[in-house]
Amino acid sequence: MKALVLAGGTGSRLRPLTHTSAKQLIPVGNKPILFYALESIAEAGIVDVVVVVGDTADEVMTAVGDGVDFGIRVTYLRQEQPLGLAHAVQMAEEYLGKDDFLMFLGDNLLRDGVGEFVRDFSTQVDAAGVMKAGHSRPLSASILLSRVEEPQYFGVAELENGRVARLVEKPAQPRSHFALVGAYLFRPAIFAAVRAIQPSLRGELEITDAIQWLLDHGHDVAWREVSGWWKDTGKPEDVLDANRLVLDGMVSGRSGAMPDRGHAENLAIGAGGISPKSPSQPMRDAERRPSLASSRVFGRAFVHPTAQLIRSVIRGPVVIGEGARIEDAYVGPYTSIQGGVTVRRTEIENSIVLAGSIVEDISRLDGCLIGKRAKITAASARPKGMRLIVGDDSRCEL
Ligand code: TTP
Repeated sequence: MKALVLAGGTGSRLRPLTHTSAKQLIPVGNKPILFYALESIAEAGIVDVVVVVGDTADEVMTAVGDGVDFGIRVTYLRQEQPLGLAHAVQMAEEYLGKDDFLMFLGDNLLRDGVGEFVRDFSTQVDAAGVMKAGHSRPLSASILLSRVEEPQYFGVAELENGRVARLVEKPAQPRSHFALVGAYLFRPAIFAAVRAIQPSLRGELEITDAIQWLLDHGHDVAWREVSGWWKDTGKPEDVLDANRLVLDGMVSGRSGAMPDRGHAENLAIGAGGISPKSPSQPMRDAERRPSLASSRVFGRAFVHPTAQLIRSVIRGPVVIGEGARIEDAYVGPYTSIQGGVTVRRTEIENSIVLAGSIVEDISRLDGCLIGKRAKITAASARPKGMRLIVGDDSRCEL
């Protein structure tokens, strides 16, 4: 079994962050979304991974490298234009050869990974690819489904008598609440399907059409309901949701009073993020502790040893990265502060602040996604009108 990870695309719904960065590298819990996918793949026992990259190829390749940090072997495949998920499969045929493969969308997060999904599929097909358990036709794919409130925004699977009968991309009138999750298992029969289909109205080769082609041409498609949460991080709200879900899953750190007259209930000291190998367990560093001058930490907080907390209140779950400085501030639940960020005389919660940004003298920030090196401060001189220098496609609610 190999894996195909899709880390190209346009990321138009995540502008302006995606004007300068790959959406798959936006961090949640201070770790790039894509890393969670690669860890899930490694945990499922897959070693050979093809990563499809687009305009942000350099950034993705720098971040992931040859995959050794994840325990996998990565080959990159450049997709010149984002012509669809099925187009990426078409391109990868020569790399995937005759192997079964897991396709994982690099902007999707699955709490429980894909281990069960992969194992389940492997027990359903024998070496010759013929179905074993309960399938009357060759089993050529397996899809992962999740019940959602608003299926009209997703690819939807309609089931009949417990079998996948039809797949519809963003149906105006959904006939099922089962959305397709961004992880799929395919046998090589999918290559005939992706060659046979035509681009959709939005000009993309749709993977739902390719799977539908399989169903229409005598193949069976297995399905499994996802366990644990699943998040497709297509929009800013989804990234913040994912951040909440990831921070919620963090385990408690150590307790006790801390030096510098500060108090910490539940402070874990570590990478200020969640280490690449263990998503829910930060690295502990018994020797070094962040400076905690007169600060109080409640709940679960993961703070890098080089971070400084000065006269501040931290209420977890929170993650604070390398060299960050939190001064006379309140950092509330579900906030990820990346390395080199300064938060001063500001209250912030339920937000993500990316590397090198400064937030100063703002009474309260809630639900914010702040890009790299941004500067958000109060006007110091009169007239006190708001002065905004905002990038293309930005969104401010003042
Ligand atoms: P999408 O979220 O469907 O597409 P997108 O990234 O272009 O985003 P937007 O709609 O906001 O413009 O893509 C899902 C994943 O697949 C994501 O990680 C990007 C990747 N992808 C490719 O690698 N190649 C492609 O041709 C497409 C469409 C997506």
